[in-house]
Amino acid sequence: MAGAGQKGSKHMETVLKRAAGALPHNTPAFDVAAIRRDFPILHTTVHGKPLVYLDNAATSQKPQAVLDAISRYYSETNANIHRGLYHLSEEATKAYDDARHKVMAFLNARLKCEIVFTRGATESINLVAQTYGREHVKAGDEILITHMEHHSNIVPWQMLCREKGARLRVAPVTDTGELDMDAFRRMITDRTRLVALTYVSNALGTVNPVGELVRIAHGNGVRVLVDGAQAVPHLPIDLLDIGCDFFVCSGHKMFGPTGIGILYGRAELLEDMPPYQSGGDMILSVRFDETTFNSLPHKFEAGTPNIAGAIGLGAAIDYVNQLGMERIAAHEAGLLQYGTEVLRSVKGVRIIGNAAHKASVLSFVMDAAHPHDIGQILDEEGVAVRAGHHCAQPLMERFDVPATARASLAFYNTKEELDVFGKALERVNEVFG
Ligand code: ALA
Repeated sequence: MAGAGQKGSKHMETVLKRAAGALPHNTPAFDVAAIRRDFPILHTTVHGKPLVYLDNAATSQKPQAVLDAISRYYSETNANIHRGLYHLSEEATKAYDDARHKVMAFLNARLKCEIVFTRGATESINLVAQTYGREHVKAGDEILITHMEHHSNIVPWQMLCREKGARLRVAPVTDTGELDMDAFRRMITDRTRLVALTYVSNALGTVNPVGELVRIAHGNGVRVLVDGAQAVPHLPIDLLDIGCDFFVCSGHKMFGPTGIGILYGRAELLEDMPPYQSGGDMILSVRFDETTFNSLPHKFEAGTPNIAGAIGLGAAIDYVNQLGMERIAAHEAGLLQYGTEVLRSVKGVRIIGNAAHKASVLSFVMDAAHPHDIGQILDEEGVAVRAGHHCAQPLMERFDVPATARASLAFYNTKEELDVFGKALERVNEVFG
């Protein structure tokens, strides 16, 4: 994957060459029509027009296999986990545990106990800020983030810095939307305690060279949290190769249900961290004068977890594994190229985010209309895009725009849908131009 280490870079090169048709490969064709049949919502209409769903960075659609797994759990094996000695509880516990195993394998983590289930990427970041952060960040220290972070990877660190009297520093991005690597290097000082950065920008699509960034930080003895929420739906992830200390992502952006997320942390760090929330299941024993905490990962999973969510996420992982993340990345590289050409062919469109390595995210503004008006006209044509600041207000300010319209693609999108998108944009020019 782009710049994510020697192995990763080579791998992404191969993916892109395949997408460009430069390499022969003997895997069967990526049958999008068949894939689309697995997603019931893709066959619905909006305002009488077939739905063209291009808001995958906000949330992805769910295949029937995920819907069935959730329904099957509630219909056939619903029971609380880790609590009952009876058959159903054992089945539910096993299914929840299997889901953790699938996540570990999907992200190529070392150990199952390094995978903590949370509500989502946001909760995972807050967990690290409130435990690891509170223990390790002191007055005068610095936390380094980038200018392309989502609010969820800004505000928890800002609050921690305020509480501790520490300083939040922000590595700049270039006009093309890439991280300024020289500035990043310079901004790691002997005061830096943590780097927190996104793998893929939700608003620009930029793929950051996370492997290289982790090596720079580690070379200075600094721990790194990678926000992978926008990377996992698009790229094969290899945590051992990236080498980061923490990694977070959300189930609903990777074709699983909402309300389930992942925190990966290196076992030795998680061991040392205090619990985030307390209650049932995160304890070994409780007396009124003393509580001992459970082993990893249970120490961080207080209360009844989102069992159905974890099972649904496991089914989503099975589904994308069967398609193959490399083939997904290759198909999306072709879509990104086509979508970029479609946008360039429409009068008055300016693409925001032109990094050399991008995931399939197309953020843009138009001379003729505000992003909200673009969003409304597109909606009338059945095309769903997001218009707004994308929870990245500092980035909008950096590019001197109040908002953008954003088409974000997934493996089930097609060139035909991008043609509909292009025609709808022509209509924006007709209506407002
Ligand atoms: N973070 C999500 C997005 O980019 C909600 O749309």
